[in-house]
Amino acid sequence: MDKLLIAGGARLSGEIAISGAKNAALPILCSALLTREPVTYTNVPRLNDIGTLLRLLEQMGVKVSREDDTVTLDASGVDNPVASYEMVKTMRASILVLGPLVARFGEARVSLPGGCAIGARPVDQHIKGLQAMGATVTVEHGYVHAKVPRLKGARIFTDMVTVTGTENLMMAACLADGETVIENAAREPEVVDLANCLVAMGAQISGAGGDVIRIRGVQALHGATHRVMPDRIETGTYLCAAAVTGGEVRLTGTSASYLDAVIDKLMDAGCEVIAERDAIRLKAPARLTAVSLRTSPYPAFPTDMQAQFMALNAVADGTAVIRETIFENRFMHAVELQRLGADIKIDGNTAFVKGVERLQGATVMATDLRASASLIIAGLVAEGETTVERIYHLDRGYERLEEKLGALGARVTRLR
Ligand code: EPZ
Repeated sequence: MDKLLIAGGARLSGEIAISGAKNAALPILCSALLTREPVTYTNVPRLNDIGTLLRLLEQMGVKVSREDDTVTLDASGVDNPVASYEMVKTMRASILVLGPLVARFGEARVSLPGGCAIGARPVDQHIKGLQAMGATVTVEHGYVHAKVPRLKGARIFTDMVTVTGTENLMMAACLADGETVIENAAREPEVVDLANCLVAMGAQISGAGGDVIRIRGVQALHGATHRVMPDRIETGTYLCAAAVTGGEVRLTGTSASYLDAVIDKLMDAGCEVIAERDAIRLKAPARLTAVSLRTSPYPAFPTDMQAQFMALNAVADGTAVIRETIFENRFMHAVELQRLGADIKIDGNTAFVKGVERLQGATVMATDLRASASLIIAGLVAEGETTVERIYHLDRGYERLEEKLGALGARVTRLR
């Protein structure tokens, strides 16, 4: 298994480009299932999760062509609306084929994703919404089996804000008979990006970005070309890496407008953050000030940036209180950060992080995607060498990570 070796102490400086958003590209690529016509997507990040999804779509009969960051999908020949356990267990987001398959083919069999390191990750809201639209849904032998001649528009109220739940139901509603209203919808920018892509394909959607989304079903969608939005979590991750090293960086091909809550916290920590039209600049102080935070659905502080801020607070002045309200087990990076000398106490869904003078390099183990990012950030400032093991987690969500960090002056080597 690959490892990353980091020699701590380098101050990050320079400029790198941000890639397309993993969490926008995943639902957006599934939208190709909704039409017989080819759909072209640009700014698609080259990530393992994207590769996994494209293999899953190919297994269903989608014709996939890919050149650099451009992907064209043709779902005219789909003859196997099934997502097998073998595929889904490696990437939970595969559940995003469920809505489009039921909408277009009237039937789908998708393996239950099962839990993952950060939590149980149920999909009951996805199922509840499809049932509201008239689908007969059974869960047998670990598979969700949904069947309906044609979905009917319905009013759906999700019990909690769910990003992929909103996305699955919005895609399903595009071809339903009548209007669907999704209340308590997720407001994440990735939901808006998906809605923009669907509208370009002929869908009738209004309200995306708010907590009530209206979709008027149409008979069919057509082909389109859509550019995936920049990855706001990749952006936030590099901003944190620059912040902890007292660095000064410019991130291009991204926007500050999706990161208000994160930028607020970076400024509270003492950083200067300048938003440009399609770039962000950060200049960090010699020593950061601890910042407390509480994760919540967008536009509040994103859970996907919690681990990175735990690493930032580990070397800041003062004590930070971090409350994780979205997932039940998203503090696994804490014990690994403690191996590097961090002073962290966990009490349920709250972490108390007391900044220390210096972290010491050590061998640590990645447990999930964003936990891995926090260990990399800590390794950048730890004294001596840090080895991060099981970095296949990182490769799922960060494109060319060591290349980009290296371009900013970090001393990072991948050990095969
Ligand atoms: C999306 O996951 C993201 N993944 C996650 O990013 C992100 O952390 C999460 O949203 C929250 O922002 C993708 O977009 C591919 P949820 P998702 O449904 O949709 C509960 C990363 O690191 N819930 O919004 O799976 C659920 O257990 C990943 O890039 C139900 O109970 O998250 C959680 O506690 C990690 N039943 C909460 O809702 C359901 O049917 C929010 O989950 C659905 C969700």
